[in-house]
Amino acid sequence: MSEPLLEIERLNTYYGKSHILHDVSLTVGKGELVALLGLNGAGKTTTMRSVLGLTRPRSGQVRFEGSSITGWPPYRVAHLGVGYVPEGRRMFKDLTVLENLQIAETARKGDWTIERVFERLPKLRELRLRKSGRLSGGEQEMLAIARALVANPTMMLVDEPSQGLAPLIVEEVYKILEEMKAQGVSILLVEQNALLALKVADRAYVMDEGRIVYSGVASELERDRDMIRTLMGLQEVAS
Ligand SMILES: Nc1ncnc2c1ncn2[C@@H]1O[C@H](COP(=O)(O)OP(=O)(O)O)[C@@H](O)[C@H]1O
Ligand SMILES: [Mg+2]
Repeated sequence: MSEPLLEIERLNTYYGKSHILHDVSLTVGKGELVALLGLNGAGKTTTMRSVLGLTRPRSGQVRFEGSSITGWPPYRVAHLGVGYVPEGRRMFKDLTVLENLQIAETARKGDWTIERVFERLPKLRELRLRKSGRLSGGEQEMLAIARALVANPTMMLVDEPSQGLAPLIVEEVYKILEEMKAQGVSILLVEQNALLALKVADRAYVMDEGRIVYSGVASELERDRDMIRTLMGLQEVAS
């Protein structure tokens, strides 16, 4: 692994009295794409929320570029250059595509401007005056990624980008994730579709009931058909 960028150490997070994350530790290196896999309810989203300051962990450490950011509020984490593409691609549905991008732009210097995003995703330019609530699922996912990009993140947390999308759109979304990685953006990627994520990931972690139960090189996990079968639930996996 390259030099660590994000380090999570023995994190315990609760919702009220429910103990959700149990001593979760993981790292994402600079320029790395790390997959966080697991069945529905495993605690993947809660892990991201704990890093972002959306849910405050009760114990444990979150470090970014070597400094503790444990318990920081979301705006401070965002200012460090940590972008978030939430599950279900939450956005301002009454704002247009362009307006959603305008409010996401920050003072952070970098390659990604709205113009540059429109060059890379011409479909979004075409749709720039449309209310984002009227976009298709795939278009909304593109906008959710674009919105994170215009903040010029050092790192992105991407939660289930393929959920509910047609295969061709999923391919497009993943192409963009790979491009971001090629540009040096570190990515923590949560996916239910394990095989999909393992194709692009360098390393992977598997969570079960709030615990990390496996970590390793993505290509090795990809060959572990029993694990893949479990992760993919009822979906057919060729052996
Ligand atoms: N706001 C909440 N309040 C109480 N329990 C929650 C809340 N959000 C999630 N949970 C519970 O926490 C566990 C982990 O959820 P989550 O992190 O969303 O899992 P995943 O993203 O892996 O599907 C689940 O049992 C879920 O029911
Ligand atoms: Mg989730």
